Amino acid sequence: MYSVIMAGGSGTRFWPASRKDRPKQLLALTGERSLLQQTVDRMAPLTPCEQVLVVTGANHSDQVRDQLSLVPKSQVLAEPMGRNTAAAAGLAAAWVAKKDPSAVCLVLPADHLITDESLFMGTLKKAAQKAISEDVLVTLGLTPHYPATGFGYIEAGTVVDETQPKVMQVAAFHEKPDLETARSYLDSGRYFWNSGMFAWRAEVLLAEIRRHLPKLADGLDELAPSLGTPQEAEALARVYPELPAISVDHGILEKTSELRVVKADFGWSDVGSWEAMADLWPKDKAENASRQKEVLAIDATGNVVDAGDRLVALLGVKDLAAVVTDDVLMILPKDRAQDVRLIIEALKEKG
Ligand code: GDD
Ligand code: MG
Repeated sequence: MYSVIMAGGSGTRFWPASRKDRPKQLLALTGERSLLQQTVDRMAPLTPCEQVLVVTGANHSDQVRDQLSLVPKSQVLAEPMGRNTAAAAGLAAAWVAKKDPSAVCLVLPADHLITDESLFMGTLKKAAQKAISEDVLVTLGLTPHYPATGFGYIEAGTVVDETQPKVMQVAAFHEKPDLETARSYLDSGRYFWNSGMFAWRAEVLLAEIRRHLPKLADGLDELAPSLGTPQEAEALARVYPELPAISVDHGILEKTSELRVVKADFGWSDVGSWEAMADLWPKDKAENASRQKEVLAIDATGNVVDAGDRLVALLGVKDLAAVVTDDVLMILPKDRAQDVRLIIEALKEKG
C-alpha cells in the first residue's frame, strides 16, 4: 500500500503568505509542521515513509524533499509543469504499478487539515479494503453543511456495506456545481462533498484512465519504462507537455460507473482561505482569531490576523482579515478572502 500525496497546487488564496515559490501546502499555517508534513505524519500508521510517493511541481521538488527528509528522494516525483490531478494520480499509479500493479494507492491532497485522526484512519482503512476486494475507485464523502461551489458533489446510491463507516454506490458525481445547483443538492440530503481523498489499486486507476482518457493512458505507457530510473526526468520533460490537463474529478469520476463512496465523519477543513483560519486558529473572547500570542483588541471583533512576531493592536475594527509578511501588508473584509486572487491579478498587470 502507498500513500500518494498530490502536492502541485499553487495556493494563490493564501497570498501574501503563499507565493509562487511557496504554495500553501509548504506553509505551517497551523502548528510547527507544514500541511504537507502533517499529511505524511498522519499516514505513518498505514504507510511508513518508504511507502509514500509525492507528486509535485519540479519548481517545488527541492523544498518538498527538504521538508520530507525521511521520504526517499526518488519518491518525490517532479512534474515539469502542472497537468492537473488526473495526470498526477496517473503518474503515481504508473510508478506504483511497476512495483506491484495490485498495490493500493491512498491518494491524498497535501493541503488539508484533519482534526480527528483515529476516525480518519478507520475511514481510510475501510476505503482501502474496498479497493482491494473490488475493481472500484473509492472516494471519501463528507456530509455537506453549506452550498459550497468549490467542491465536487457525490450522489449516494445503494448502500453496499452497512457497517460503520458505511459504503455506498455512487449514482452520480458532479464537480463544482453553480450555487443554485449546490443549494438543491444540499436540500435533497442525498449528496456528499467529495473530500478529494481516494483509494484505488494502481491497475484499476490505469484501466479507468485507458477507458476515459486514452491520450493520458498513451502518455503514461510511454513514461512507464523510465519511471524510477535515471531516465525519469528526461522522459517526464518529453512526455508531460503533451498530456491532457484535466482533473481526476472531471476526467474520471464524473464518467466512471465504478465509483464507491465511504461516508467520512472526521473533522476536516480544506483550509480554503484566510477566512477559514477564523475556525482553525485560537480566538479571544471577541472572536478575533490569530496564532500570535499578543493580540490587543479594543472594541474589535471577528477579525483574522496574522503578523509574525509583531504585537497586533486592533481598535474599533470588525470582521477584517489582516496579514503582514516581510514585504506586504494586506487588509480586506474577511468575507472577501476568496477574492485575494484579484490582488495577484492586479499585481501581474502592473508588472
Ligand atoms: N502534483 C500535482 N499536479 N498536484 C496537483 C495538481 C497538479 O497539476 N493540481 C492540483 N494538485 C493537488 C493540489 O495541491 C491539492 O493537494 C490536490 O491536488 C487537489 O487539487 P485542488 O486544486 O486543491 O482541487 P480543488 O480543491 O479545487 O478540488 C478538489 O478537492 C475538493 C476538496 O477539497 C476536487 O477533488 C473536489 O471534487 C473536492 O471537493
Ligand atoms: Mg483544494
